[in-house]
Amino acid sequence: MFHAPPHFLNGRPPAPAGDPEFSVPVIDLAGARDDHDPEDASAKWGFFQIVNHGVPTSTQNKIKAGTHRFFNQDAEAKKEYFRAEPMSKVVYTSNYGLYTAPVAYWSDVILFNMAPEPPEPEQIPACIRENVQEFSEEISKVGGLMFELLSEALGLASNHLKEEMGCAEGMGLACNYYPHCPQPELALGITHHTDIGFITVLSQDHVGGLQVVHRGHWVDVPPVPEALVVNIGDMLQLISNDKFKSVEHRVIVNNVEPRVSTVCSFGNGFMLKSRMYGPIKELLSEENPPIYREISIEEFFFKSYKKGFDGNSYLPQLKL
Ligand code: OGA
Ligand code: NI
Repeated sequence: MFHAPPHFLNGRPPAPAGDPEFSVPVIDLAGARDDHDPEDASAKWGFFQIVNHGVPTSTQNKIKAGTHRFFNQDAEAKKEYFRAEPMSKVVYTSNYGLYTAPVAYWSDVILFNMAPEPPEPEQIPACIRENVQEFSEEISKVGGLMFELLSEALGLASNHLKEEMGCAEGMGLACNYYPHCPQPELALGITHHTDIGFITVLSQDHVGGLQVVHRGHWVDVPPVPEALVVNIGDMLQLISNDKFKSVEHRVIVNNVEPRVSTVCSFGNGFMLKSRMYGPIKELLSEENPPIYREISIEEFFFKSYKKGFDGNSYLPQLKL
């Protein structure tokens, strides 16, 4: 069930080694307001790394240690958190995609739906509880900062995306665990996909394996100590009317050591209700007419989820 179809594994060539055109942008937030890097990176790559973002490295390391602790327990201890569907406050899922994707993922995940309503502390496994609370607080500040920068990059007031539009109202925190894989050439940790929410902020460990599509090639997102990875999700592509791109990515596995990552999705929609989102009016003109129809986050998440994890975004279905 883990054997990925060949076109999943080798459907795109790897980026030419050493070519600076294929190097994921790194943005130093200490200087972000002086240049247009976030705008450029969001429009051309949809993916970038940030440094000097204010999240202590210790906070990042602690939740990774907690992730190892949780997944290293035996099945008996984990099974009380197991859910087949992601619509609860705390969801442990093994081999995500087993029922919904063309191939099972070589990974396990425990997901915490932290906003708008966080789980009760006692709903979070004790071995990772404090780590989840600390990481969630820190990453929410970075999320807020990114929405300010991205608002400005769209030519809007800095509070537009977060305060006016509520893009950070929902937040899901996923702790991913990719076990060591005896035959990494046959399986994928997560198959190619785009993220559904507005933005994703991700902390990866030293192992590597995250890849993103750029100009038709798979490009490695190299682990940069202390950095966070930021990427644009489908909902932000929708409201930015295609100015910012939600780009395909995946995770390859290795036969050396397990990998963990902590992934915060802002705009996670399983807990959000009726608010409608369409292309932002201020961005539209005769030359830039709306590309998509409006949809609520909740409906967008359900449609994206229910169509199955086949690697295709639900966005094209909303084209006017
Ligand atoms: C995801 C994802 C990448 C990673 O959870 O959507 O793309 O590095 N994760 O774990
Ligand atoms: Ni993703």
